[in-house]
Amino acid sequence: MSTPIIELSGAALRDHVAAELGRARARSEALTGAVDDTDLIRQHSPIMSPLVWDFAHIGNQEELWLVRDVGGRDPVRADIDHLYDAFKHPRPNRPALPLLDPTQTRHYLGEVRRKVLDVLDGAPLEGRRLVEHGFAFGMIVQHEQQHDETMLATHQLRIGPAALHAPAPDPPRSANLPEEVLVPAGEFTMGTSTEPWALDNERPAHRVRTGAYWLDTTPVTNRDYQRFIADGGYDNPRWWSEQGWAHRCEAGLVAPLFWFFEGGQWWRTRFGVTELVAPDEPVVHVSFFEAQAYAEWAGKRLPTEVEWEKATRFDPATGRSRRFPWGDDDPTPAHANLGQRHLQPAPVGSYPAGASPLGVHQLIGDVWEWTSSGFSGYPGFAAFPYREYSEVFFGGDYRMLRGGSFATDAAACRGTFRNWDHPIRRQIFTGFRCARDAAAEHQVS
Ligand code: AVJ
Ligand code: FE
Repeated sequence: MSTPIIELSGAALRDHVAAELGRARARSEALTGAVDDTDLIRQHSPIMSPLVWDFAHIGNQEELWLVRDVGGRDPVRADIDHLYDAFKHPRPNRPALPLLDPTQTRHYLGEVRRKVLDVLDGAPLEGRRLVEHGFAFGMIVQHEQQHDETMLATHQLRIGPAALHAPAPDPPRSANLPEEVLVPAGEFTMGTSTEPWALDNERPAHRVRTGAYWLDTTPVTNRDYQRFIADGGYDNPRWWSEQGWAHRCEAGLVAPLFWFFEGGQWWRTRFGVTELVAPDEPVVHVSFFEAQAYAEWAGKRLPTEVEWEKATRFDPATGRSRRFPWGDDDPTPAHANLGQRHLQPAPVGSYPAGASPLGVHQLIGDVWEWTSSGFSGYPGFAAFPYREYSEVFFGGDYRMLRGGSFATDAAACRGTFRNWDHPIRRQIFTGFRCARDAAAEHQVS
């Protein structure tokens, strides 16, 4: 991830695609190799697939798009397509399906990948929109990385330790940051028409205007969130939306998922280890409803998706939108906590080199950030290459999530990337930051 894809062609583009495919596969193999076969087949939570389903589904999507569609080759295993079609079988039903076992799955993925590398060798990477700049390959790399993040969430739900490894040293950190940053009123360019591997819902680029607003410099921390709990935040319907309160009562929510209170302190389990909640880390494993209640309690609100992207990409010096907060270069370990280098979010103030021009920190990586926006297409949206990636989810109860988490790979994360989930979900690596309207004197532009 050094030279932006847009600048690559020919052998350099093919090499880049092959390296990204290899990196994704190494991660999938590590995630599935971290537990024994019994654990791969078991369902650790009814809201998650068995790990072996995700693993084979990764191979099946790769076969559908790269072997059959791009490559025009014969199917490897047409007989199993229906088992790994996410729309045919809801998650609770997946363990009972006649799935490939772990050994068959590894064999299947190997066979598909050999064919894909052969297709990559010969396929023209231009002339057809699906392959332009290696798009279909990039889509499949992102798909594998997305399921790898899902598999990591399954590991977190699983009882007991796993052989997961995150060897990175502590990142640099700045102290005494201001609590909020003022984002000026005015137009900016949202979305993209030029990012080669951007998915359909990130397109096209379009101009959007916002008023002036204050945005938290960093995500909300565990320390902040404990104040909300200690102040009776979970017991006071005043802070909650009607739907949020109903859910809080029905689900019996009292704290973020994986937290428990003992001996006068908050503890958490994290990938099978029990430890004290770290006060300076962004809070993680909260639902949209909890994030919304906290923001209300704090006298603020959640940012809209537009506000999040403007704070992330808008450069007031040039008026243009960047690919990332720090500029147009792909992420490095100095910029953001991505790709499972750490198995937790970094303390707030970390990664000063990743701050945006306006001084907002940790927008990329650490925790997915809930926004107040629902899911719809940008003006001029066109489903590509299939409606089931984005369009069929438009208009549901989903809330938009931005910025990626420590579990998101750089290949599946950028300033324009859009993720979404149901407002009750909290097994995903989600936190949030707050916003508030700026006073009238700031509203001129
Ligand atoms: C965009 C992350 C919500 O994981 O359900 C994976 C991505 N789409 N396979 C998901 C996706 C098809 C999707 N999210
Ligand atoms: Fe999928």
